[in-house]
Amino acid sequence: MRIPYSVLTKNSRLSTTTTLFLLTTSIITFLPILTIAEPQHATKEQIIIYACQQGLSPYKFDCGDQSYWACACQYPPVFGSLVSCMDSYLPEDNTNIKEKAWNLLSENCRKYGDVHGVTQKLIQSVLTNSTKYLINGDDKNLRRDEINYVPILPNKEDVLGSFRDYWVFLGNLDIGQYDGFIINYYFLVVLSLCGLFYQLKRYSIIRSFHSKWLNSIRSKLSMSLIFGSHSNEFHIYKSFTTLLPSRLEFFVLLGYFTLNAHFVFFGYEIYPKNHIFGPNTTRQFLRYIADRSGIISLAHLPILVLFAGRNNLLIRLTGVNYSSFMIYHKWTARVMFFDAIIHSLAYYVLMLQNGQLSYYRSLDWFLNGVNALYLCLVIVILAIHNFRKKCYELFIVMHISLAALFFYGCYLHCKPFGWLSWVYYAAGFWISDRVLRLVNLWKFGAPMAKIHYISDQTFKVSVQRPHNWRAFPGCFVYVHFLHPRLFWQSHPFTIVDSVEGFQEVTIYIKAKEGLTKSVLDIIGIQGPYSMRVSLEGPYGIENPLKNYDNVLLIAGGNGVPGPFYHAVELAKSSLIPKRRIKLIWVIRSIDSLRWFEKALEVALDYLGYFEIEIHITSKDFQLDQIKTDPLLLKFRDFKFFKGRLNSEKVLKEELGNAVGSVAITTCGPPILCDQIRKLVANELNACPYRVDLFEELQVW
Ligand SMILES: Cc1cc2nc3c(=O)[nH]c(=O)nc-3n(C[C@H](O)[C@H](O)[C@H](O)COP(=O)(O)OP(=O)(O)OC[C@H]3O[C@@H](n4cnc5c(N)ncnc54)[C@H](O)[C@@H]3O)c2cc1C
Ligand SMILES: NC(=O)c1ccc[n+]([C@@H]2O[C@H](COP(=O)([O-])OP(=O)(O)OC[C@H]3O[C@@H](n4cnc5c(N)ncnc54)[C@H](OP(=O)(O)O)[C@@H]3O)[C@@H](O)[C@H]2O)c1
Ligand SMILES: *[C@@H]1O[C@H](CO)[C@@H](O)[C@H](O)[C@H]1NC(C)=O
Ligand SMILES: *[C@@H]1O[C@H](CO)[C@@H](O)[C@H](O)[C@H]1NC(C)=O
Repeated sequence: MRIPYSVLTKNSRLSTTTTLFLLTTSIITFLPILTIAEPQHATKEQIIIYACQQGLSPYKFDCGDQSYWACACQYPPVFGSLVSCMDSYLPEDNTNIKEKAWNLLSENCRKYGDVHGVTQKLIQSVLTNSTKYLINGDDKNLRRDEINYVPILPNKEDVLGSFRDYWVFLGNLDIGQYDGFIINYYFLVVLSLCGLFYQLKRYSIIRSFHSKWLNSIRSKLSMSLIFGSHSNEFHIYKSFTTLLPSRLEFFVLLGYFTLNAHFVFFGYEIYPKNHIFGPNTTRQFLRYIADRSGIISLAHLPILVLFAGRNNLLIRLTGVNYSSFMIYHKWTARVMFFDAIIHSLAYYVLMLQNGQLSYYRSLDWFLNGVNALYLCLVIVILAIHNFRKKCYELFIVMHISLAALFFYGCYLHCKPFGWLSWVYYAAGFWISDRVLRLVNLWKFGAPMAKIHYISDQTFKVSVQRPHNWRAFPGCFVYVHFLHPRLFWQSHPFTIVDSVEGFQEVTIYIKAKEGLTKSVLDIIGIQGPYSMRVSLEGPYGIENPLKNYDNVLLIAGGNGVPGPFYHAVELAKSSLIPKRRIKLIWVIRSIDSLRWFEKALEVALDYLGYFEIEIHITSKDFQLDQIKTDPLLLKFRDFKFFKGRLNSEKVLKEELGNAVGSVAITTCGPPILCDQIRKLVANELNACPYRVDLFEELQVW
């Protein structure tokens, strides 16, 4: 059946207004963190109360069996001492600081001493009365071991010293909170910059950004890799592997590491004459670093969750893809863990020195914190690449359940102290992602799909989509096979839309070891099999290949659907061929042609619009087969080659001969994509026009 091409799928690009709208909303969602978050800890009105209490602590009063606050808010000598001290030593301030201090005092009386009716007026009268009796704390006649029956004004230096001590101690908590914001905003700003370049590409302004000088920066900075490996796994030691960030991602991370290290390790005010911690400066440092690293660690939770979400708005806005966000997700998580370890170690040493460890071990919030730390350790260990690669499903189930427990642990740990808004934000991001995922699934529904094994371990899933469900080239979906054994798993696959059938989504799946193998076992290799499926998506970014005069699409093996869909859409979008479009497909054997045969037939209609080159690498393939094999005969207008693609030669030729800007897209075996990225980075200057590389392969 031929498809009515006139019915084109609508382009799913976001309009400028939508983009602006989304950008503003996403920034605004971050802003409330600033406003509703933790109240400031170091305020003068609060600290003057602590400092005066500290200053009065050496003197004895006759409070009977009253609690401290009940006595301090009622018994005239103590009450009078406290308000006289506050009145005399509260630092000048241009706000109505005294009023705030009296309000806070009255609030404390109500909260902690159950004493009501401590009004400004009452405080004034107590103050006036005490001046008649007030004795200076330094008075020679005053004996410290005897009970006093009159108000005492403590020594000025003592009180102001304590004031500074509390200012530093509580101020440190506020600094931790600000540092946390800065880390959140660092990522927001850096990602906005990425978004700016993405918009420049989308509106084809970037084409004029071209110079040798710029190219050398791009080839060294934004395009290069680290140890030549990005999509392809990197062997750290023997079979111990990992996925490395690209160089650009590395620099973004480097800035973040520096910021975090600077915040955690520096900027402490430590001095010997400290009334809270005594002369031991190490203890001061340990306590400050413990508090600050704890808060900064907690401040990581929202971005951590946001980066891992499938429905992360920032992906669409900034053009930074999911695999890139995954890199940031992993590294922010590791840094959060590192900060949490600093927090725990510092407190551990302090508690050991105090000999209070066993006391703290009896407290719930303490135990919950310890448990959260251990959970975090397990999560980080389970996330190593080797395990993820081997048992992705087990990994993801454990990752999510342990993470949920970890979040709950953090919540319980912080509940008595505050800073919970970080946890709430993280939970909010997580829940909204889950809800959007359900909405996406619901939008697609669960239609019956035709699943058909074809060749080369590859089966094809064809399913009718709702008419208002919009796909775009390069998009991918998460497929749920609605089978009792499989429905709970969802795996990412690239789709082509309305290429093989009208409003029909087609997915070409290569059977590997897990879910895909189970599906193949169920459907068998005979005729088509019917099964309900639900597709969650479409996700991903539409790379603006339209804006380039030359488009080179390079695909390997099962990576072809994305680049092919691009080629077809590019051809459809112009009535006369105005761009040079070339699709190069590297495959192992003609078996791969079979599962993609239907789609390739469509390409035959567009031969005036694009060229197709097919490289077949199997030893068994001979070029003369083109004249005999019926399948190859059908596609005789394509160019066939034997052996691997010589990427270097092809790129040099394409770039050297290009007239106008060039876009290169890759999708295929990771090593092939990394090689091409390296080559393009080195050859940027071979082309007198702007060259951009768009990688579609994603690995996480
Ligand atoms: C954006 C994107 C588009 C893709 N498009 C296609 C496509 O069009 N055709 C195709 O054949 N393959 C495609 N893949 C690869 C496909 O997702 C995996 O091959 C498939 O999920 C493997 O399932 P399995 O359980 O059989 O794998 P396993 O044999 O268990 O694992 C094989 C590999 O797949 C990875 N993997 C397994 N499950 C997931 C998952 N849920 N998410 C991410 N990675 C996973 C593992 O880490 C492992 O490296 C795509 C992958 C991505 C990320
Ligand atoms: N959007 C996405 O992220 C997305 C979409 C679809 C598929 N995928 C992934 O894409 C990959 C496709 O792999 P596959 O298993 O289908 O491929 P494959 O069969 O292993 O390889 C395809 C062809 O690429 C050739 N090739 C490999 N490395 C090369 C190199 N460095 N230079 C030149 N040619 C090279 C191979 O040649 P030899 O025979 O000589 O090795 C082979 O002919 C899978 O990992 C799949 O999961 C990802
Ligand atoms: C005034 O202060 C003195 C000394 O603290 C106290 O004994 C007395 O009761 C106070 N008088 C009033 C009216 O509060
Ligand atoms: C994803 O985005 C990053 C940053 O924008 C880009 O460098 C990379 O090529 C893209 N593709 C992959 C597979 O990482």
